[in-house]
Amino acid sequence: MRINQNISELKPSATLLINEKVIELRKHGKMITHFGFGQSPFPIHKSIVEELKKYATNNHYLPVKGLLALTEQVSKFLLNNQGIDRNASHIFIGPGSKELLYQSILIFEGEYLIPKGSWVSYIPQIKSKGGSYTILETKLENQFKLTAETLEAYLKQSNQQEHIVILNSPNNPTGAVYTEDEYASLAKVCKKYQVIVFSDEIYSQINFNNDFSPSISKFYPEGTLIFGGMSKVFSAGGYRLGFMSLPEELASLSLVYRSLFSETFSCVSSPIQFAGVKAYEYANELKDYVNISSKILHGISAFIFDEFSNNKIQCTQSQGAFYMMIGFETFKEAIQSLNIHTSIELAHYLLENYDVALLPGSDFGFKETELFFRLAFVDFDGDYLMNLTQHDTEIDRSFVQENCPSVYRGVHQLIKFTKELT
Ligand SMILES: Cc1ncc(COP(=O)(O)O)c(C=O)c1O
Repeated sequence: MRINQNISELKPSATLLINEKVIELRKHGKMITHFGFGQSPFPIHKSIVEELKKYATNNHYLPVKGLLALTEQVSKFLLNNQGIDRNASHIFIGPGSKELLYQSILIFEGEYLIPKGSWVSYIPQIKSKGGSYTILETKLENQFKLTAETLEAYLKQSNQQEHIVILNSPNNPTGAVYTEDEYASLAKVCKKYQVIVFSDEIYSQINFNNDFSPSISKFYPEGTLIFGGMSKVFSAGGYRLGFMSLPEELASLSLVYRSLFSETFSCVSSPIQFAGVKAYEYANELKDYVNISSKILHGISAFIFDEFSNNKIQCTQSQGAFYMMIGFETFKEAIQSLNIHTSIELAHYLLENYDVALLPGSDFGFKETELFFRLAFVDFDGDYLMNLTQHDTEIDRSFVQENCPSVYRGVHQLIKFTKELT
């Protein structure tokens, strides 16, 4: 038997191994704070569930590129809620944005540029097609966001013809949100070097200071593909519904996408697409639900940021999504004296000795020796918090202590670890 070498060389990620270990430890009654698991903690809104029930008997295949009413609704949603003008005829529906990103990676040849501090799946997806990629340097001082200077310096010396850069904001794993100015500068460079941009906007509405997040497509519409979906904003990861939008200028690719879709997944489940129409109508009650979820996440992330900053633990300041990157570089010498030299080793040590699961930065484009970790601050009962929270509820330290005990305990376990080092 021979299997594709690009696939056989994919290793189980450190993330997978940590998750398995958490399940095992919990089975044995250990109280673990799981800062590793990045699923939305909130319940799905009942208006979406009701719509799904209504269409449960629909057993028809739908058009390969998606239900027309849904692509039209997504087009309206992008215009009304993100100021993005994209024609429904260039919007595609797929089984999650992950699959749409993967199929796009299959379609676009060239060198992929991945900022250090990027989602775990981009690199394995590129590797699985035998593609080439480069990780571009980013810095904590800049919340691990790619700068126009770094991008241009790389492109200037690159001897590759085509480049595709994958940007994600609000970001998994850092929680960073690119500003309009940052995107305007990056767009200028992309335009100059004719770089294609995959703009992963799956968390757009989970923004702590605004109703949505800026999109680079405003400054570089002709070269930007936008990706989004129901998994995060509508807490519907298991529904598996994502969308992507091609720019008018790349409309000729529409046929390529439709051919690839028709030879692979055919279409997203029909009832789910009808439920998607309801979600993207984005009625006020749904908007309110998204705002309350963002408010809860904002409060919890601010609490963690304050606690860590006061205790010399490095930390990005989240402005959206469910994540922050934290670092123990200031404690490196003391950590090395424990014979721990990589983020993977430290992740295992923290889980075994302090009951806290973090994901090692090496799965997110960091070097193994950089002691950075992704912390997902969603280890709480989202249903309970949603019922408890009003627009004027203060999500402060005592709120977290009382209502998010696992998060509170985990934060203080990590602080305890640093205290015991010195
Ligand atoms: C940054 C980012 N992009 C894409 C996805 C994929 O989401 P889905 O395939 O559920 O749409 C995720 C999910 O974790 C993510 O965090």
